[in-house]
Amino acid sequence: PVPTALTGKKVVVTAGGTREPLDPVRYLTNHSSGKMGYAIAHAAQLAGAEVTLISANSSLQIPNHVRLIKVETAADMLTAVQKAFQSADVLIMSAAIADFRPAHVADRKIKKSTDNQRMTLDLIRNPDILETVGQTKQKDQVMIGFAAETNDLIMNAQKKIKAKNLDMIVANDVSKKTIGFNSDNNQVTFLFANGDQIKTDVESKQQIANRLVRLIADKFL
Ligand code: PMT
Repeated sequence: PVPTALTGKKVVVTAGGTREPLDPVRYLTNHSSGKMGYAIAHAAQLAGAEVTLISANSSLQIPNHVRLIKVETAADMLTAVQKAFQSADVLIMSAAIADFRPAHVADRKIKKSTDNQRMTLDLIRNPDILETVGQTKQKDQVMIGFAAETNDLIMNAQKKIKAKNLDMIVANDVSKKTIGFNSDNNQVTFLFANGDQIKTDVESKQQIANRLVRLIADKFL
């Protein structure tokens, strides 16, 4: 534990899965529970940081002494992250953000009828939040992403750390039920911009979060 390593630092953490509405009663989303991001917010707060947690859908309780901003869609998340990032020292993006949203949101509940046995959803790309806020990144700001992958974990994570110009990426294998989305445990590889890698054992998400916070304090602050 590093009780004071982040004293005076402003840390913004994102968590949970965005919901992209289709009509007033339906949405597209993913399996993110928020557990990983909430654990990171808790760890950073315990380490002395002033923490803002920007949370898409999650039913978890907010950690003590953490400022919570609730959002619904990727667009809401972008607005909230842009604002919070301006004065942040560290941004940690563990939220699972929809890459696409329905191109049209129906005002009324979409009805089935005897002649529509098939339906096609027209989807449009959401902005990439890390890439967007990365354009305003100052030299002393630290940006950390996650990479949720079902295959070619390290190769895909390496592509994302470059494309998104990150200081570190947390590569997360999400092909197994026991780690990744919605589980209490996780196993990740911390990948740095210089190519260094640290692979963890299977540990609780809180232990992984503590490790991440310690690494940030040691390597970047
Ligand atoms: O919430 P839990 O149930 O505890 O599960 C944790 C988790 C599996 C969700 C988490 O550990 C994780 O891997 N989060 C990242 C999920 C994800 O969407 O990853 P990605 O590989 O699609 O995206 C790469 C990075 O870009 C992520 O940091 C993501 O937040 C960010 N992103 C993605 C899309 C987008 N439009 N804008 C972004 O900034």
